[in-house]
This record gives sequence, structure tokens and C-alpha cells, in this order.
Amino acid sequence: MRVLVTGGAGFIGSNVVKILEDQGDKVIVLDNFSHSSYKNLMDLEAEVIASDITDGSIYKKLPKVDAVIHEAAITDTTLADDTKMMTVNYEGSKKVLDFCLAKNIPLVYASSAGVYGETKSLASEDQKLTPHNTYGYSKYLFDCRVSKLIAKKSSPRIVGLRYFNVYGPREYHKGSAASMTYQLYLQMNSGKRPRVFKYGEQKRDFIYVKDVARITVEALKSKTSAILNLGTGTPRSFNDIISSLNQALKTKLEPDYFDNPYGDKYQNFTQADTALLEKTLKTSAQFSLEKGIQDYVNEYL
Ligand SMILES: NC(=O)c1ccc[n+]([C@@H]2O[C@H](COP(=O)([O-])OP(=O)(O)OC[C@H]3O[C@@H](n4cnc5c(N)ncnc54)[C@H](O)[C@@H]3O)[C@@H](O)[C@H]2O)c1
Repeated sequence: MRVLVTGGAGFIGSNVVKILEDQGDKVIVLDNFSHSSYKNLMDLEAEVIASDITDGSIYKKLPKVDAVIHEAAITDTTLADDTKMMTVNYEGSKKVLDFCLAKNIPLVYASSAGVYGETKSLASEDQKLTPHNTYGYSKYLFDCRVSKLIAKKSSPRIVGLRYFNVYGPREYHKGSAASMTYQLYLQMNSGKRPRVFKYGEQKRDFIYVKDVARITVEALKSKTSAILNLGTGTPRSFNDIISSLNQALKTKLEPDYFDNPYGDKYQNFTQADTALLEKTLKTSAQFSLEKGIQDYVNEYL
């Protein structure tokens, strides 16, 4: 199979390319290299097209493909340029979708838990969506467009995956937007006490990128179209990350707690309801936080 992976030079995209290539697929990466690293592609065979997903002329020049995995997006949720955020994440995604509709080929795309905004308990796909920043809104708007198409039942298969908090190899280029696990690892590996907001009991649904990439690729074979949560279903605390890192690094560094400057605006809790994912794709995350961090630190960091 020939698969186009947008954002294939980024964190999750390059993990997806690796899995596709390991199973013998031919991959074409479409990425403008605005938030990526060429190093993510050095061990991969993929053909690279260095272009922007918002450039409508590019789609006529693409080689023939059998499916698309769409990962490209502005992923820095704190970016103040709303025009750019909406142009890439919404208008760009619409162009990718239109390409799949015109060619009648399946599309798997990255949505985000950001569509839910503040949550205090399990987030389910059918609950009211209240994104609390432009990033979340851009993902929400595209999900709404796809939902309408899915309801008409006339499109090729489309699977949207609302990723929760992803961590793992190939994320170093993300800087301050990289995962909490990676930020804490950098501090602890240099012998510093890990700094977290008081008192480290904020809980999130952290999912290892190997699970995310595997399930994203498996979604290409989905028999039905759907928009699904992709998390572990188990929220874990920042203190849990620190314990797992201490274990993996063989250190005993105590957390250094400080006041949270974001107050109420901070996302203190995320948890994916994974029932629909399990029912639709017959799969679930395999890595616990401990296993994921062990693998990440020992094999990659
Ligand atoms: N990492 C997470 O925890 C997380 C959580 C929820 C959703 N997501 C979504 O998963 C997808 C992948 O995210 P990631 O964490 O790998 O981020 P990333 O920033 O590493 O990857 C995004 C890639 O898209 C490329 N890109 C950006 N704008 C582009 C454009 N206009 N044209 C072509 N390429 C462009 C970047 O160069 C980069 O390679 C994104 O859609 C993101 O919104 C990620």
C-alpha cells in the first residue's frame, strides 16, 4: 500500500511512518518542516515532499496513493497567531479531506482531546465539546465537518482520532511543547530536582507514542467511519511520572513544587473514555505509564 503521511517529519507522524515502513508499506511524507526535525526521517525510506498542506496546487502533483494519514498541524497550543492556527489546522485539513474525497481513498486524521476543553471526569465522544483555545477550536471545527460527512454515509472511510497526552521518541524538536515526561526527564537527567506545579497531583491521560502510532495505522483498516478518543483511559499524576523516571534513571530525586501561574486556566485533568475505540477498532493501548517511560528512557534517551 502507498500511504501519504502529512506531518510525517514531526513527532507522531515520523513514528507512524516507521510502523508503515516496518510492515512493508511505501510512504510519501508531505511536510513543510516548520516544526519538525530532518533527524526524524534519517532512519526512514519515505519519499519527501517539502510543501505546505494549505497550498492547493500541491494536491495535483502528488503521486498516486491508497490512503492518507493526516498529522500536519500547528501543535503549539499557546501560539498567539489565530489566523495561522485556523489556516493550517482547519483550512489545511479541509484541503487534505477534499483530496481524499476526490480520490475516494480512506483518511485517518489526528484530532485532539483539546476539543473537550476543561474536563473533570471521563471525556466521551458524544459529550458537549467546549474547546478553550484556538487550537482546540480548530480541531473541533474539523471534527464537526467530518461528523456531517460521516452522517451522510457517502464518503470514503474517515477515522478521526482524538489523541490525549502523547509522549515518546522523536519529540525533542518540540521544545517547550514537548511532553511533560520529556521536560522532566531533561531536568532529572542533568541531576536537577524535577520542577512541577504544587503538588504534582494534576492527572492526565498520558499515552505512549508507540501505542498512538500503532493504533493510527490500524485505523486505516477500520470497517466504519468514526471519531474516537485515543488515550489509555487511565489518568496518571505528574508525581507518577517523576516516580517512573526515578525508576528508569535509577535516581531518587524529590519533586520541587512551585505555584501554578495559570490558576484556573490550567488543564488539571484529562481522561479518555476508550469504550468506543475498543468497540470500533478492537484495540487499546498496551503500554502503562511505567512501561512506556521505561522503554522511552532505556531505548531512546
Ligand atoms: N503530541 C500530542 O500530545 C498531541 C495530542 C493531541 C493531538 N495531537 C495532534 O497530532 C498531530 C501530530 O502532532 P505532533 O505532536 O507530532 O506535533 P509536531 O509539531 O511534531 O508535528 C506536526 C508536523 O506538521 C508539520 N506541519 C505544520 N504545519 C504544516 C503545514 N502547513 N504544512 C505541512 N506540514 C506542516 C510540522 O513541520 C511537523 O512536522 C497534530 O495534528 C496534533 O495536533 C498531538
